[in-house]
Amino acid sequence: MSAVGIVAAAGSGSRLGADKPKALVELAGRPLVSWAVDTLLAGGVDEVVVAVPAAERDAFAAVLPGSVALVDGGATRTASVRAALSAAGPHADAVLVHDAARPLTPPDVVARVLAALAAGVPAVVPVLPVVDTTVVVDAAGTVTEAVPRAVLRRVQTPQGFDRAVLVAAYAALDDALVDALVDAAALTDDAAVVRAAGVPVTTVAGDERAAKVTVPHDLHLAALQATR
Ligand code: C5P
Repeated sequence: MSAVGIVAAAGSGSRLGADKPKALVELAGRPLVSWAVDTLLAGGVDEVVVAVPAAERDAFAAVLPGSVALVDGGATRTASVRAALSAAGPHADAVLVHDAARPLTPPDVVARVLAALAAGVPAVVPVLPVVDTTVVVDAAGTVTEAVPRAVLRRVQTPQGFDRAVLVAAYAALDDALVDALVDAAALTDDAAVVRAAGVPVTTVAGDERAAKVTVPHDLHLAALQATR
């Protein structure tokens, strides 16, 4: 089985408060995007396509190996992944979509995702249990219900797909469906795209080290781990 990795790295990172795209922010001397690319390759992916902010192509090319393909990302993560998917080599059997914002994901997670795909599942995501009590609130912030946390999972990346399944699901994602899913706040990852196409999504164990860097505190925690 051959696999292509897509790294979504076209976000602005405004919540991180950096003066550059989040994926170019350094962690232990290397940009986040470089950590993400290395993780995919170390975990068994054969080639990598990175979606970058169009205006920053040169800056990304300067920090990534020449073998990594770059494409202009879009206004949303979905648009960025769609662009990278069209550029990904058609010969690959599988596609793994990873966030540049998860720099310390261990290669083992990539290997688990690849193993599930090799075993024949069409879509797989790494997950972790929810350990906190989790509730639903109304617009005023008042708790309306508690959710049974035993059935909840936090979803990470890389998410793995049979290539033809992911391509077909993105092709079926028309504007009306995107609007409906965005309204329902249900279009935050690629598993949502294939689920909207009726494809079952299985899970493998994620890893706390695959945590997403969103706010400055996350980067501080990642820096402590990276130098350990
Ligand atoms: O904003 P958030 O942290 O959820 O973004 C997750 C990942 O998606 C990040 O790695 C970010 O660079 C990427 N992204 C993208 N294109 C966008 C927005 C986000 O590739 N337009």
